[in-house]
Amino acid sequence: MQSKDKILVVGGYGQVGRVICKDLGNKFPGNVVAVGRNYDKAEQFTRTTNGKVIPLEFDVFADNNNNNILEEISVVVMCLDLNDTRFIEQCIDKGIHYVDISASYSFLSKIMSLDEKAKASGSTIILSVGLSPGLTNLLVQYSKTQFDVLHRSDIFVLLGLGEEHGKAAIEWMVDNMHTTFEVSENGYKKQVKSLEDGKATLFSENFGNRIAYRFNFAEQHFLPVTLDIKRVSHRICFDSRLVTQSLAAFRKLGILNLLKLKPLRNAAVKMFENIQFGSDAYVIKVDSSGKKDDKITEFKCSVIGRNQSEATGKVAAVITESIYIKKHPSGVYHIEQIFNSSDIIDRLSEHIKFHTYDK
Ligand SMILES: NC(=O)c1ccc[n+]([C@@H]2O[C@H](COP(=O)([O-])OP(=O)(O)OC[C@H]3O[C@@H](n4cnc5c(N)ncnc54)[C@H](OP(=O)(O)O)[C@@H]3O)[C@@H](O)[C@H]2O)c1
Repeated sequence: MQSKDKILVVGGYGQVGRVICKDLGNKFPGNVVAVGRNYDKAEQFTRTTNGKVIPLEFDVFADNNNNNILEEISVVVMCLDLNDTRFIEQCIDKGIHYVDISASYSFLSKIMSLDEKAKASGSTIILSVGLSPGLTNLLVQYSKTQFDVLHRSDIFVLLGLGEEHGKAAIEWMVDNMHTTFEVSENGYKKQVKSLEDGKATLFSENFGNRIAYRFNFAEQHFLPVTLDIKRVSHRICFDSRLVTQSLAAFRKLGILNLLKLKPLRNAAVKMFENIQFGSDAYVIKVDSSGKKDDKITEFKCSVIGRNQSEATGKVAAVITESIYIKKHPSGVYHIEQIFNSSDIIDRLSEHIKFHTYDK
Protein backbone atom coordinates (compact mmCIF):
# COMPACT_ATOMS: atom_id res chain seq x y z
CA MET A 1 0.00 0.00 0.00
CA GLN A 2 1.41 3.40 -1.03
CA SER A 3 1.66 6.07 1.65
CA LYS A 4 -0.44 9.14 1.00
CA ASP A 5 2.06 11.71 2.22
CA LYS A 6 2.98 13.85 -0.80
CA ILE A 7 2.09 17.45 -1.65
CA LEU A 8 1.57 17.96 -5.41
CA VAL A 9 2.16 21.54 -6.59
CA VAL A 10 0.67 21.97 -10.08
CA GLY A 11 2.55 24.79 -11.81
CA GLY A 12 5.27 24.03 -9.25
CA TYR A 13 8.13 25.68 -11.15
CA GLY A 14 6.13 28.82 -12.09
CA GLN A 15 6.64 32.17 -10.34
CA VAL A 16 4.27 31.37 -7.46
CA GLY A 17 4.61 27.57 -7.44
CA ARG A 18 8.39 27.64 -6.92
CA VAL A 19 7.99 29.69 -3.71
CA ILE A 20 5.44 27.19 -2.38
CA CYS A 21 7.66 24.23 -3.33
CA LYS A 22 10.76 25.74 -1.72
CA ASP A 23 9.02 26.62 1.56
CA LEU A 24 7.23 23.28 1.86
CA GLY A 25 10.29 21.34 0.59
CA ASN A 26 12.35 22.79 3.47
CA LYS A 27 9.71 21.63 5.95
CA PHE A 28 8.86 18.27 4.38
CA PRO A 29 11.91 17.24 2.30
CA GLY A 30 11.17 14.51 -0.25
CA ASN A 31 7.39 14.92 0.12
CA VAL A 32 6.83 17.85 -2.27
CA VAL A 33 6.34 17.23 -6.01
CA ALA A 34 6.68 20.12 -8.51
CA VAL A 35 4.76 19.43 -11.72
CA GLY A 36 4.31 21.15 -15.05
CA ARG A 37 4.25 20.12 -18.71
CA ASN A 38 8.03 20.28 -19.16
CA TYR A 39 10.17 17.76 -17.28
CA ASP A 40 13.44 19.59 -17.99
CA LYS A 41 12.13 22.81 -16.45
CA ALA A 42 10.81 20.89 -13.42
CA GLU A 43 14.14 19.13 -13.01
CA GLN A 44 16.14 22.32 -13.45
CA PHE A 45 14.10 23.98 -10.72
CA THR A 46 14.18 21.08 -8.27
CA ARG A 47 17.99 20.93 -8.55
CA THR A 48 18.01 24.34 -6.83
CA THR A 49 16.25 22.73 -3.83
CA ASN A 50 19.04 20.16 -3.22
CA GLY A 51 16.64 17.32 -3.97
CA LYS A 52 14.10 18.38 -1.34
CA VAL A 53 11.49 18.83 -4.10
CA ILE A 54 10.77 16.06 -6.65
CA PRO A 55 10.23 16.92 -10.37
CA LEU A 56 7.41 15.38 -12.42
CA GLU A 57 5.95 15.94 -15.90
CA PHE A 58 2.17 16.16 -15.67
CA ASP A 59 -0.34 18.02 -17.85
CA VAL A 60 -3.37 18.70 -15.73
CA PHE A 61 -5.58 19.11 -18.84
CA ALA A 62 -4.51 15.86 -20.55
CA ASP A 63 -6.87 12.86 -20.53
CA ASN A 64 -4.05 10.34 -20.75
CA ASN A 65 -2.23 11.28 -17.52
CA ASN A 66 -0.93 8.52 -15.34
CA ASN A 67 -3.11 9.36 -12.38
CA ASN A 68 -1.46 6.69 -10.21
CA ILE A 69 0.49 9.58 -8.78
CA LEU A 70 -2.72 10.70 -7.04
CA GLU A 71 -2.61 7.53 -4.89
CA GLU A 72 0.37 9.06 -3.06
CA ILE A 73 -1.02 12.59 -2.68
CA SER A 74 -2.35 14.15 0.51
CA VAL A 75 -2.75 17.76 -0.76
CA VAL A 76 -2.82 19.34 -4.24
CA VAL A 77 -1.93 23.02 -4.66
CA MET A 78 -3.21 24.46 -7.96
CA CYS A 79 -1.09 27.31 -9.36
CA LEU A 80 -2.79 27.83 -12.72
CA ASP A 81 -6.32 28.61 -13.90
CA LEU A 82 -8.24 25.44 -14.77
CA ASN A 83 -11.06 25.38 -17.35
CA ASP A 84 -13.19 22.73 -15.69
CA THR A 85 -13.44 20.79 -12.43
CA ARG A 86 -12.59 17.29 -13.76
CA PHE A 87 -9.16 17.13 -12.10
CA ILE A 88 -10.50 18.52 -8.82
CA GLU A 89 -13.29 15.92 -8.83
CA GLN A 90 -10.67 13.17 -9.29
CA CYS A 91 -8.86 14.56 -6.24
CA ILE A 92 -12.07 14.66 -4.21
CA ASP A 93 -12.91 11.05 -5.21
CA LYS A 94 -9.59 10.03 -3.66
CA GLY A 95 -10.12 12.09 -0.48
CA ILE A 96 -7.25 14.45 -1.42
CA HIS A 97 -7.25 17.96 0.08
CA TYR A 98 -6.99 20.85 -2.38
CA VAL A 99 -5.75 24.48 -2.27
CA ASP A 100 -6.37 26.88 -5.21
CA ILE A 101 -4.73 30.30 -5.76
CA SER A 102 -6.96 31.36 -8.69
CA ALA A 103 -8.49 34.85 -8.71
CA SER A 104 -11.20 33.86 -11.21
CA TYR A 105 -14.72 34.30 -9.83
CA SER A 106 -16.42 32.13 -12.44
CA PHE A 107 -14.06 29.22 -11.88
CA LEU A 108 -14.05 29.43 -8.08
CA SER A 109 -17.89 29.40 -8.25
CA LYS A 110 -17.69 26.09 -10.13
CA ILE A 111 -15.48 24.63 -7.40
CA MET A 112 -17.95 25.78 -4.75
CA SER A 113 -20.59 23.57 -6.33
CA LEU A 114 -18.45 20.57 -5.24
CA ASP A 115 -19.06 21.27 -1.54
CA GLU A 116 -21.36 18.27 -0.91
CA LYS A 117 -19.03 15.92 -2.80
CA ALA A 118 -16.03 17.14 -0.78
CA LYS A 119 -17.92 16.78 2.50
CA ALA A 120 -18.85 13.20 1.59
CA SER A 121 -15.28 12.21 0.73
CA GLY A 122 -13.52 14.03 3.61
CA SER A 123 -11.59 16.46 1.35
CA THR A 124 -10.86 19.97 2.58
CA ILE A 125 -10.86 22.47 -0.30
CA ILE A 126 -9.50 25.97 0.39
CA LEU A 127 -10.10 28.73 -2.18
CA SER A 128 -9.04 32.40 -2.29
CA VAL A 129 -5.46 31.68 -1.27
CA GLY A 130 -2.65 34.14 -2.08
CA LEU A 131 -2.33 37.90 -1.97
CA SER A 132 -5.52 38.94 -3.78
CA PRO A 133 -7.61 36.95 -3.26
CA GLY A 134 -6.11 35.71 -0.01
CA LEU A 135 -4.56 38.30 2.27
CA THR A 136 -7.16 40.82 1.04
CA ASN A 137 -9.92 38.48 2.37
CA LEU A 138 -8.09 38.29 5.70
CA LEU A 139 -7.75 42.09 5.88
CA VAL A 140 -11.52 42.38 5.42
CA GLN A 141 -12.02 39.71 8.11
CA TYR A 142 -9.72 41.71 10.43
CA SER A 143 -11.54 44.97 9.59
CA LYS A 144 -14.84 43.39 10.55
CA THR A 145 -13.59 42.89 14.12
CA GLN A 146 -13.26 46.70 14.43
CA PHE A 147 -17.03 47.29 14.05
CA ASP A 148 -20.29 46.20 15.61
CA VAL A 149 -21.64 46.10 12.05
CA LEU A 150 -19.42 46.37 8.97
CA HIS A 151 -21.33 48.08 6.12
CA ARG A 152 -18.80 48.25 3.31
CA SER A 153 -15.22 47.38 2.42
CA ASP A 154 -13.33 48.78 -0.56
CA ILE A 155 -10.32 46.66 -1.51
CA PHE A 156 -7.41 48.35 -3.32
CA VAL A 157 -4.35 46.66 -4.82
CA LEU A 158 -1.26 48.46 -6.12
CA LEU A 159 1.07 46.28 -8.19
CA GLY A 160 4.68 47.08 -9.09
CA LEU A 161 5.48 46.61 -12.77
CA GLY A 162 9.19 46.05 -12.07
CA GLU A 163 8.59 42.51 -10.78
CA GLU A 164 8.90 39.46 -13.04
CA HIS A 165 5.21 38.48 -13.07
CA GLY A 166 4.34 34.92 -14.14
CA LYS A 167 2.82 34.40 -17.60
CA ALA A 168 -0.36 32.79 -16.21
CA ALA A 169 -0.92 35.78 -13.90
CA ILE A 170 -0.37 38.27 -16.76
CA GLU A 171 -2.74 36.32 -19.03
CA TRP A 172 -5.46 36.46 -16.36
CA MET A 173 -4.95 40.20 -15.98
CA VAL A 174 -5.03 40.94 -19.73
CA ASP A 175 -8.10 38.72 -20.24
CA ASN A 176 -9.95 40.71 -17.58
CA MET A 177 -9.08 44.20 -18.84
CA HIS A 178 -12.09 44.45 -21.15
CA THR A 179 -14.75 42.66 -19.11
CA THR A 180 -18.06 43.88 -17.68
CA PHE A 181 -19.13 42.21 -14.47
CA GLU A 182 -21.85 42.29 -11.88
CA VAL A 183 -21.36 43.39 -8.28
CA SER A 184 -23.87 43.34 -5.48
CA GLU A 185 -24.48 46.59 -3.56
CA ASN A 186 -26.92 46.66 -0.66
CA GLY A 187 -28.64 43.61 -2.09
CA TYR A 188 -28.98 45.10 -5.60
CA LYS A 189 -27.05 43.89 -8.64
CA LYS A 190 -25.07 46.46 -10.61
CA GLN A 191 -23.01 46.12 -13.83
CA VAL A 192 -19.51 47.60 -13.68
CA LYS A 193 -16.67 47.71 -16.22
CA SER A 194 -13.09 46.77 -15.46
CA LEU A 195 -10.66 49.73 -15.40
CA GLU A 196 -13.49 52.24 -14.96
CA ASP A 197 -15.13 53.96 -11.95
CA GLY A 198 -11.87 55.19 -10.37
CA LYS A 199 -11.62 55.81 -6.65
CA ALA A 200 -8.74 57.39 -4.72
CA THR A 201 -7.01 55.99 -1.66
CA LEU A 202 -3.83 56.75 0.25
CA PHE A 203 -1.71 53.63 -0.26
CA SER A 204 1.47 54.42 1.65
CA GLU A 205 3.90 57.26 2.33
CA ASN A 206 5.94 56.10 -0.60
CA PHE A 207 3.15 55.76 -3.18
CA GLY A 208 0.88 58.50 -1.80
CA ASN A 209 -2.69 58.99 -2.99
CA ARG A 210 -3.60 57.01 -6.09
CA ILE A 211 -6.72 56.44 -8.18
CA ALA A 212 -7.46 52.75 -8.62
CA TYR A 213 -10.02 51.20 -10.99
CA ARG A 214 -12.54 48.36 -10.85
CA PHE A 215 -11.27 44.87 -11.60
CA ASN A 216 -12.98 41.48 -11.47
CA PHE A 217 -11.09 39.84 -8.60
CA ALA A 218 -13.06 37.00 -7.03
CA GLU A 219 -13.10 38.12 -3.40
CA GLN A 220 -15.50 41.06 -3.96
CA HIS A 221 -18.15 38.50 -4.96
CA PHE A 222 -17.64 36.00 -2.15
CA LEU A 223 -16.92 38.23 0.87
CA PRO A 224 -20.46 39.71 1.03
CA VAL A 225 -21.67 36.14 1.61
CA THR A 226 -18.88 34.67 3.75
CA LEU A 227 -18.58 37.70 6.05
CA ASP A 228 -22.10 39.13 5.65
CA ILE A 229 -21.17 42.58 4.29
CA LYS A 230 -23.53 44.66 2.14
CA ARG A 231 -20.92 46.12 -0.24
CA VAL A 232 -17.46 44.98 -1.24
CA SER A 233 -15.58 46.48 -4.19
CA HIS A 234 -12.15 45.76 -5.68
CA ARG A 235 -9.90 48.19 -7.55
CA ILE A 236 -6.34 48.05 -8.88
CA CYS A 237 -3.62 50.40 -10.04
CA PHE A 238 0.04 50.08 -10.93
CA ASP A 239 3.08 51.76 -9.43
CA SER A 240 3.39 53.73 -12.69
CA ARG A 241 0.69 56.45 -12.77
CA LEU A 242 1.25 56.71 -16.52
CA VAL A 243 0.42 53.03 -17.13
CA THR A 244 -2.65 53.14 -14.86
CA GLN A 245 -3.98 56.33 -16.46
CA SER A 246 -3.26 55.12 -19.99
CA LEU A 247 -5.10 51.82 -19.39
CA ALA A 248 -8.10 53.69 -17.92
CA ALA A 249 -8.11 56.03 -20.94
CA PHE A 250 -7.81 53.12 -23.42
CA ARG A 251 -10.72 51.42 -21.66
CA LYS A 252 -12.88 54.53 -21.90
CA LEU A 253 -12.09 54.88 -25.61
CA GLY A 254 -12.94 51.20 -26.25
CA ILE A 255 -9.38 50.43 -27.34
CA LEU A 256 -9.02 47.58 -24.82
CA ASN A 257 -11.84 45.71 -26.61
CA LEU A 258 -9.17 44.91 -29.21
CA LEU A 259 -7.73 42.49 -26.62
CA LYS A 260 -10.60 40.18 -27.56
CA LEU A 261 -8.58 39.49 -30.75
CA LYS A 262 -6.13 36.69 -30.01
CA PRO A 263 -3.02 38.09 -31.77
CA LEU A 264 -3.42 41.45 -30.00
CA ARG A 265 -4.12 39.75 -26.68
CA ASN A 266 -0.95 37.65 -27.04
CA ALA A 267 1.05 40.76 -27.98
CA ALA A 268 -0.24 42.55 -24.84
CA VAL A 269 0.76 39.54 -22.68
CA LYS A 270 4.27 39.67 -24.23
CA MET A 271 4.49 43.41 -23.62
CA PHE A 272 3.60 43.06 -19.92
CA GLU A 273 6.06 40.14 -19.60
CA ASN A 274 8.82 42.40 -20.94
CA ILE A 275 8.03 45.61 -19.06
CA GLN A 276 11.21 46.47 -17.19
CA PHE A 277 10.38 49.61 -15.26
CA GLY A 278 8.91 50.41 -11.88
CA SER A 279 9.45 48.64 -8.59
CA ASP A 280 8.65 45.16 -7.28
CA ALA A 281 6.60 46.59 -4.39
CA TYR A 282 2.93 45.90 -3.81
CA VAL A 283 0.34 47.33 -1.44
CA ILE A 284 -3.04 45.79 -0.60
CA LYS A 285 -5.38 48.04 1.31
CA VAL A 286 -8.90 47.80 2.70
CA ASP A 287 -10.97 50.92 3.54
CA SER A 288 -14.06 50.01 5.56
CA SER A 289 -16.98 51.81 7.14
CA GLY A 290 -19.63 50.64 9.56
CA LYS A 291 -21.16 51.14 12.96
CA LYS A 292 -19.34 51.04 16.31
CA ASP A 293 -21.05 52.06 19.57
CA ASP A 294 -23.96 53.49 17.55
CA LYS A 295 -21.68 55.79 15.54
CA ILE A 296 -20.72 55.53 11.87
CA THR A 297 -16.96 55.07 11.77
CA GLU A 298 -14.11 54.06 9.42
CA PHE A 299 -11.19 51.67 9.63
CA LYS A 300 -8.32 51.32 7.15
CA CYS A 301 -5.53 48.76 7.05
CA SER A 302 -2.96 47.50 4.57
CA VAL A 303 -0.19 45.05 3.88
CA ILE A 304 2.94 46.34 2.16
CA GLY A 305 5.67 44.15 0.73
CA ARG A 306 7.90 43.29 -2.20
CA ASN A 307 7.30 40.69 -4.91
CA GLN A 308 3.62 39.76 -5.10
CA SER A 309 4.37 36.30 -6.54
CA GLU A 310 6.53 35.55 -3.52
CA ALA A 311 3.87 36.87 -1.12
CA THR A 312 1.23 34.75 -2.86
CA GLY A 313 3.48 31.69 -2.57
CA LYS A 314 4.23 32.37 1.11
CA VAL A 315 0.51 32.62 1.95
CA ALA A 316 -0.23 29.46 -0.02
CA ALA A 317 2.63 27.59 1.69
CA VAL A 318 1.35 28.50 5.18
CA ILE A 319 -2.22 27.44 4.32
CA THR A 320 -1.08 24.21 2.64
CA GLU A 321 1.15 23.30 5.59
CA SER A 322 -1.82 23.69 7.91
CA ILE A 323 -4.04 21.52 5.68
CA TYR A 324 -1.24 18.92 5.42
CA ILE A 325 -0.49 18.55 9.12
CA LYS A 326 -3.90 19.20 10.72
CA LYS A 327 -7.44 17.97 10.21
CA HIS A 328 -9.76 20.74 9.00
CA PRO A 329 -13.48 20.48 8.24
CA SER A 330 -14.25 18.78 4.94
CA GLY A 331 -16.05 20.76 2.23
CA VAL A 332 -15.27 23.84 0.14
CA TYR A 333 -14.24 27.02 1.99
CA HIS A 334 -12.67 30.40 1.33
CA ILE A 335 -9.57 31.26 3.34
CA GLU A 336 -11.45 33.61 5.72
CA GLN A 337 -13.91 30.86 6.70
CA ILE A 338 -11.19 28.62 8.17
CA PHE A 339 -8.17 30.80 8.99
CA ASN A 340 -7.69 33.74 11.33
CA SER A 341 -6.19 36.96 9.92
CA SER A 342 -4.00 37.72 12.95
CA ASP A 343 -2.51 34.19 12.97
CA ILE A 344 -1.63 34.28 9.27
CA ILE A 345 -0.28 37.87 9.39
CA ASP A 346 1.89 36.90 12.41
CA ARG A 347 3.24 33.87 10.60
CA LEU A 348 4.18 36.04 7.59
CA SER A 349 5.64 38.92 9.62
CA GLU A 350 9.16 38.39 8.24
CA HIS A 351 7.87 39.04 4.71
CA ILE A 352 5.02 41.55 5.01
CA LYS A 353 4.27 44.76 6.91
CA PHE A 354 0.78 45.09 8.37
CA HIS A 355 -0.32 48.68 8.86
CA THR A 356 -3.39 50.46 10.23
CA TYR A 357 -4.18 54.11 9.45
CA ASP A 358 -5.11 56.93 11.81
CA LYS A 359 -8.69 58.07 11.32
N1 LIG B 1 -4.24 34.75 -5.43
C1 LIG B 1 -3.27 35.56 -5.80
O1 LIG B 1 -2.95 36.52 -5.11
C2 LIG B 1 -2.47 35.31 -7.05
C3 LIG B 1 -1.29 36.05 -7.28
C4 LIG B 1 -0.52 35.75 -8.40
C5 LIG B 1 -0.96 34.78 -9.29
N2 LIG B 1 -2.13 34.13 -9.05
C6 LIG B 1 -2.60 33.08 -9.98
O2 LIG B 1 -1.65 32.04 -9.87
C7 LIG B 1 -1.50 31.36 -11.10
C8 LIG B 1 -0.02 31.18 -11.42
O3 LIG B 1 0.63 32.41 -11.58
P1 LIG B 1 2.21 32.46 -11.85
O4 LIG B 1 2.58 33.88 -11.77
O5 LIG B 1 2.94 31.48 -11.01
O6 LIG B 1 2.25 31.96 -13.38
P2 LIG B 1 3.38 31.14 -14.15
O7 LIG B 1 4.74 31.58 -13.70
O8 LIG B 1 3.04 31.27 -15.60
O9 LIG B 1 3.17 29.64 -13.66
C9 LIG B 1 2.22 28.76 -14.20
C10 LIG B 1 2.83 27.36 -14.19
O10 LIG B 1 1.85 26.41 -14.61
C11 LIG B 1 2.45 25.46 -15.49
N3 LIG B 1 1.40 24.92 -16.36
C12 LIG B 1 0.74 25.57 -17.36
N4 LIG B 1 -0.17 24.76 -17.93
C13 LIG B 1 -0.09 23.58 -17.27
C14 LIG B 1 -0.77 22.33 -17.40
N5 LIG B 1 -1.71 22.14 -18.34
N6 LIG B 1 -0.46 21.31 -16.56
C15 LIG B 1 0.51 21.49 -15.59
N7 LIG B 1 1.20 22.63 -15.44
C16 LIG B 1 0.91 23.67 -16.27
C17 LIG B 1 3.50 26.29 -16.24
O11 LIG B 1 4.57 25.46 -16.73
P3 LIG B 1 4.51 24.81 -18.23
O12 LIG B 1 3.94 25.88 -19.14
O13 LIG B 1 5.93 24.47 -18.51
O14 LIG B 1 3.63 23.61 -18.11
C18 LIG B 1 4.02 27.21 -15.13
O15 LIG B 1 5.05 26.58 -14.43
C19 LIG B 1 -2.29 32.18 -12.12
O16 LIG B 1 -3.51 31.52 -12.33
C20 LIG B 1 -2.52 33.50 -11.44
O17 LIG B 1 -3.71 34.14 -11.86
C21 LIG B 1 -2.88 34.35 -7.95
